[in-house]
Amino acid sequence: MEASPIRCLVSAGPTREYFDPVRFLSNPSSGRMGFAIAEAARARGWEVVLVSGPAALPDPAGVRVVRVETGEEMHAALLESFAECDVLFMTAAVMDTRPRHCSPHKVKKDQLPGVIEMVPATDILADLGRRKAGQTLVGFAAETENLEANARAKLERKNLDLIAANVVGVPGSGFVAETNRIVLLSRDGGREVLGPASKHEIADLLITRVAPLAERAREGRERP
Ligand code: CTP
Repeated sequence: MEASPIRCLVSAGPTREYFDPVRFLSNPSSGRMGFAIAEAARARGWEVVLVSGPAALPDPAGVRVVRVETGEEMHAALLESFAECDVLFMTAAVMDTRPRHCSPHKVKKDQLPGVIEMVPATDILADLGRRKAGQTLVGFAAETENLEANARAKLERKNLDLIAANVVGVPGSGFVAETNRIVLLSRDGGREVLGPASKHEIADLLITRVAPLAERAREGRERP
């Protein structure tokens, strides 16, 4: 009997946190890394669900795309597919903080607050790490300093199998860049540099590295 396709879940893009119906806080993530991973996974014959925050990119062919805006919506959409997936690539640039209050009506400009009170937002990946039952979890760490030490700490803290760490704030890497250089760290102490290369090339390399772990996860899921 032929093995069923690997089930791959990908998150991408920024999230938005509103303080009234027309105003929000967000970040400049383009979504390109996540969309490239979804396309590369699909090209290997994997079954792909892509949960994306607002990104100006078309749906990749053959991929089920769920578009969301807020962190809460992204969390809910990921939870719908998480239990059944073999591998999660969490590339989304989730807001770490959100306004404590969101006005139901547009705030008039003469009533806009000078200070917006913020509260921590849910760490979606840490939550999925706690729920993990055989899935392979791949996190992404954007850092401006102490790249590898910070990324390795996140790998442990969020119960991940791999973390793709990259430097942000320099040309040719990070949020909105076309190219990327990634240090891929694994739970067992492994370290590999990928790139600099286009986000599509990096995506393809990541799929190759993750495939054996995803296959193991699928075998575990299919075992009666
Ligand atoms: N992440 C998440 N939910 C959040 C914040 C981050 O799921 N609220 C995920 C990201 O998608 C990424 C990983 O956690 O895969 C690491 O994100 P990063 O922003 O680098 O780290 P933080 O946990 O936010 O830590 P810090 O801000 O201290 O760097």
